[in-house]
Amino acid sequence: MNKLTSDILDRLRGADGFLSGGELCSELGITRSAVWKHISLLRKTGYSIEAVSGRGYRYNRSTGLPVPEEVMPLLSTARLGRTIEFHEMLESTNQRAKTLARDGALEGCVIIADSQKSGRGRMGRQWISPPGANLYFSIILRPPVPPLRLSQIPLLAAAAIHRTLDAMVDGVSAMVKWPNDILIGGRKVCGILCEMETEADLAHFVIAGIGINVNMHEIPGDIEGIATSMSIESGNELSRPEILADILNHFEPIYDEWLVKEDLGDFLPYLERYAWLKGKAVSVERYNGRVTGMVTGLGRSGELLLTDDDGKAHSITSGEATIRKEAL
Ligand code: BTN
Repeated sequence: MNKLTSDILDRLRGADGFLSGGELCSELGITRSAVWKHISLLRKTGYSIEAVSGRGYRYNRSTGLPVPEEVMPLLSTARLGRTIEFHEMLESTNQRAKTLARDGALEGCVIIADSQKSGRGRMGRQWISPPGANLYFSIILRPPVPPLRLSQIPLLAAAAIHRTLDAMVDGVSAMVKWPNDILIGGRKVCGILCEMETEADLAHFVIAGIGINVNMHEIPGDIEGIATSMSIESGNELSRPEILADILNHFEPIYDEWLVKEDLGDFLPYLERYAWLKGKAVSVERYNGRVTGMVTGLGRSGELLLTDDDGKAHSITSGEATIRKEAL
């Protein structure tokens, strides 16, 4: 973004309400048509700027882009989000984060994109990532813990995201679907994809990739009926920078506490309280086959506890759970 465009953005951000075209012209020494050109550029980049004749221009904070200038002033973290890389478009934020992590990026570095060409979901699925509406970001973590514990990270992220969404979306209750989805009214609003590089007893890095449907008004055909967005559920547009900053603010203390524990510790009761699958009849696809039964809760390390149809208890550390159709 060139200097004049960013000066106009700064003035609009700092204004309390409308800023007239005339004021911008005289402060910056440019013509009205030049102001208009820069406003159009900002709009193309994704900034929402209202133009009302006779009053001027007003920056709409609530639909702002999740750029570092918007997110960083809202952070209360020591490490998470202290370095932020923003891209209008990426293949995948997880892919970019992996490259940076291999090159030595520090823990807490966050990569954000306004859209992704090849957003990745779990099990090789695609994550639909249109521009101007949602959050797509990846956090680089370097937890000094045994690799066996790393499968708990999606649950920690889910707890942080759940706290944020629950506080922001009034009157609807979000639930955590083991191991890493957030649902509202049974529909998916957020997915988490953790990817990692480890040695036998050491994690080089973990990439916590998070996709949240924030202001998407229409759910694309492929995921219609199974996905939703925060704006659909709340009837309001929500601020992407605020949501992102809140998640990082919640995540850091949860993560720090977990680093010095041996299991999920105090987050277990929280995750159990909002566990979507608890008490439901499910089928879980695991690397070594499928198991079906009734979910009884979560284990101390975040395992899904399930009693199968023969009454045998299972403790499942990873897999993909679906609610059984006959139980619906
Ligand atoms: C899932 O539910 O399948 C996980 C979806 C994770 C999507 C996010 S969007 C940001 C990050 N970059 C990616 O390519 N994927 C994750």
